[in-house]
Amino acid sequence: MALAEETSRIAALFEYSDEEVNKGVLEFLRQMKEGLQHDGTSLSQIPTYVTGVPNGTEKGLYLAVDLGGTNFRVCSVHLNGDTTFNLTYSKVAIPKELMVAEHAHQLFGFLAKQIEIFLRTHHGDHFDAHIRRRQTVSTPEGYRDEQIFRLGFTFSFPVQQSGINKGTLMRWTKGFDIPDAVGKDVCALLQQEIDRLHLPVKVAALVNDTVGTLMARSYTSPGKTATLLGAIFGTGTNGAYVEKVSNIKKPVGGDYDKSTGQMVVNTEWGSFDNQLNILPNTSYDIELDKKSVNPGIQMFEKRVSGMFLGEIVRLAIVDMLKNPSISLFRDENSSQNDWKSTTTIGAESSVFQQWGLDSSIMSIAAADNTPDFSTLRQELEKQLQVYAASREDALAFKKVAYAVGRRAARLSAVALGAIVLQSGKLKEAGDEPIDIGVDGSLVEHYPFFRDMIYEGLSAIEGIGPEGSKKIRIGIAKDGSGVGAALIALVAANMERKTVGDYLNRLRNDVAQKISNVFAGTAEPTTVA
Ligand code: BGC
Repeated sequence: MALAEETSRIAALFEYSDEEVNKGVLEFLRQMKEGLQHDGTSLSQIPTYVTGVPNGTEKGLYLAVDLGGTNFRVCSVHLNGDTTFNLTYSKVAIPKELMVAEHAHQLFGFLAKQIEIFLRTHHGDHFDAHIRRRQTVSTPEGYRDEQIFRLGFTFSFPVQQSGINKGTLMRWTKGFDIPDAVGKDVCALLQQEIDRLHLPVKVAALVNDTVGTLMARSYTSPGKTATLLGAIFGTGTNGAYVEKVSNIKKPVGGDYDKSTGQMVVNTEWGSFDNQLNILPNTSYDIELDKKSVNPGIQMFEKRVSGMFLGEIVRLAIVDMLKNPSISLFRDENSSQNDWKSTTTIGAESSVFQQWGLDSSIMSIAAADNTPDFSTLRQELEKQLQVYAASREDALAFKKVAYAVGRRAARLSAVALGAIVLQSGKLKEAGDEPIDIGVDGSLVEHYPFFRDMIYEGLSAIEGIGPEGSKKIRIGIAKDGSGVGAALIALVAANMERKTVGDYLNRLRNDVAQKISNVFAGTAEPTTVA
């Protein structure tokens, strides 16, 4: 069988038709509603206690940290109040052994240490002043609370929130696995380690990266429209959107600002349709899932996000390599190869190792439209030890990778389209666009990923080509920094409000007591 023919057959396995997109949207809407009604559903629909989005006028200096993938970022963000900000940051790779450590304090201790290093390096004056205050302080309350840095903690894993800075870890994703942390409050875990190092930092807000992206986009986006949705298409995938509180039927305990009637909901759509009612399921998807650390979970993510797409392509390629009737990455003699050299594949090639194919090569494959695919062929050599791949080999690889990438983009359209429909905004929208902020390596680096999403959106009933023109998908950089800072600001305002409310109550109480004394109705005071 010719290579080209087999390539087309494999690529066709990843086709995701308009009809399937529409079925997907209906199921997504159904699972969204289910998640708003009960806990324990596959779309978790987590209330975030964030009840409004910013408008660009917010000001102040905040700290933000970001744990969610391979790196840990610490940053300080100065919000200038005019839709702009200044950001200073440092980034370290998370040691692999800490991602699967035995005890939570090993990872969280490492994070606190990075915060200390950052403060000493970038905010030395503030840090030293704090140390001096600690040494000289004589009041029982210690130093004034306002001297403390408020920190927004972007923690991009599924967390059951119970307040703006409280939430228990439901499960790890993206290759992390520290069972000791599951079921614990991750803010408290970080605060404990920060306190152990005596740092002047209060964990003020717990933020999923999608919520950060939504906030950052809303702070910086052009025009007056408040952003509807923040989404990540990177190592993992997820989205958070603004929902009417009246639609959240499951109980939302604890304190939050009820005046807006809205709350940001973290969908955790990575786990959409874990039961596989409608998700496509090729033999490669099945194999990937079976060999993953969390079989049966994050089934949408396993078909959409950067961490998994490379592995799907790898499994398809290995399948083709095993097929004796086609000739992929091998030619009988060099005369068949336009580079006049015999194709070989190293026995140690990472093609033969689980996770050995990084999704970044898919972007290179999609971008290389040169007549002989020279960039892709060089990359096959560099990344996968495939030497002197022929033009036909490169084309086969490109087609399979494209099919996997395109299916991911169309599935992404399902999630985005369903949320747009759920918001009812298309019916309301005047001239203002429906704004969506996105971030992550796929949307940033995979050529035409956004265009393929738009193509999917146009195919959705209730959106169509006209509706899709009203949807504005824009990159929101630094959501985990700026967004987290914005939520730390909201949290600080809430704290002030609570203190203000308390003082008002106290004042009213005292006034009442005094007027009772004058009216002669004062209750007798008991002295214990
Ligand atoms: C996590 C989400 C996160 C997403 C993007 C997923 O694996 O469950 O919480 O938002 O990755 O980083």
